[in-house]
Amino acid sequence: TKAITLDEGYRNTGACESNITFINPEKGILRHRGYPIEQIAEKLSFIETALLLFEGEVPSPDRLKRFSDLLTANEMLHEGVRQFFDGFPSTGHPMAILSAMINTVSCYQPDVMELEDEDTFDVSAAQLISKVRTVAAAAYKMSIGHPIMYPDPNLSYCANFLHMMFSIPKKVYEPDQDIVDALNLFFILHADHEQNCSTSTVRLVGSSQANLFASCAAGVCALWGPLHGGANVAIMNQLQELHSTKMDLGKFIEGVKQKEYRLFGFGHPVYKSFDPRAKILSAAADRVLAKLGVNDPLLELARRLEDVALNDDYFVSRNLYPNVDFYSGIILRAIGIPVNMFTVMFAIGRMPGWIAHWKEVRDRKSKIYRPRQIYTGPTERSLA
Ligand code: CMC
Repeated sequence: TKAITLDEGYRNTGACESNITFINPEKGILRHRGYPIEQIAEKLSFIETALLLFEGEVPSPDRLKRFSDLLTANEMLHEGVRQFFDGFPSTGHPMAILSAMINTVSCYQPDVMELEDEDTFDVSAAQLISKVRTVAAAAYKMSIGHPIMYPDPNLSYCANFLHMMFSIPKKVYEPDQDIVDALNLFFILHADHEQNCSTSTVRLVGSSQANLFASCAAGVCALWGPLHGGANVAIMNQLQELHSTKMDLGKFIEGVKQKEYRLFGFGHPVYKSFDPRAKILSAAADRVLAKLGVNDPLLELARRLEDVALNDDYFVSRNLYPNVDFYSGIILRAIGIPVNMFTVMFAIGRMPGWIAHWKEVRDRKSKIYRPRQIYTGPTERSLA
């Protein structure tokens, strides 16, 4: 047997081969299936991006229509699922509810969960992408004590989600196209990011041949933490606190440098330069807020914070730049999404990436993932 090499957090271990996403950490490049994220963000919809991730090509109009029809056909939750929402306290965390409900939903379609052929995969993927949005909006409605809104089959993916979030009985919410576009952009920029913590989790769970729903429910849990997807909540809380206490930014940064707390939305395990998604979101934040006529003091605060950090040797010497979470929350806030739903929004956006990676594990007939360890516990001893 070969000696085991310690690589904590697998930072320098290629755990798999993948055709889906390419990152150049030094140059801040991100490409899906060869296409730069900047072009994808400008030219594709979220659902086109999902199909690009699954299949490697931008879908033809016919392919897009077939998949969109499947999304519509699968947008409802089985009525039996509704009773489960009643079991959660209104204070239940939306990520806990999302993860639990993905497995619950799967109990109502056990027949299509296994990847037996392309058609079955298509249905499973469409079910997950479509229903996760219905579940997320329903969890929100339950948390504020409002009745759940049923999806509207006439609406696009993003408009339908906004409808389920913000319509109330007898008052249909009709979103501005700018809001729909902003949400579409948010989802696209979260769609995949190769072997991050949650995607690796999905691959790992999937490598045991666990079904797609179970594997993605595990992904939701991995995403929840503040060092990963939960950072979009953490930075928003930091900005809100800075704003409400009017704390001096220099003093706040000093606390970061003294390691009393981290500046969330900054730093990345892979990028050693600007996260390209943060660049797009930073520009979008200005554009979206201007279009919507929103004047959010937190945007100006975030800009000042970025400026202070990027001119401080602590951040420069450690290659700490804004990541995808730094500006995304400001856009979600302008759309009207409550802060405790931010990581759920990340999960909805990341779903295509998780599904594409789960499929890749299956298609490649991957071995079961089984990392080793360096044992550091006691040597053999005897119980008296
Ligand atoms: N604020 C202050 N100091 C930081 C930060 C930060 N956000 N990130 C890293 N550092 C410091 C850290 O204290 C350490 O300093 P030293 O060398 O003196 O010990 C050095 O930089 C390296 O940190 P690390 O923890 O070894 O770096 P990592 O690559 O393991 O961490 C990270 C990556 C994303 C977990 C980290 O940068 C972090 O905690 N950022 C804040 C949370 C965040 O925004 N997460 C979202 C990541 S991007 C979206 C996603 O994938 O979910």
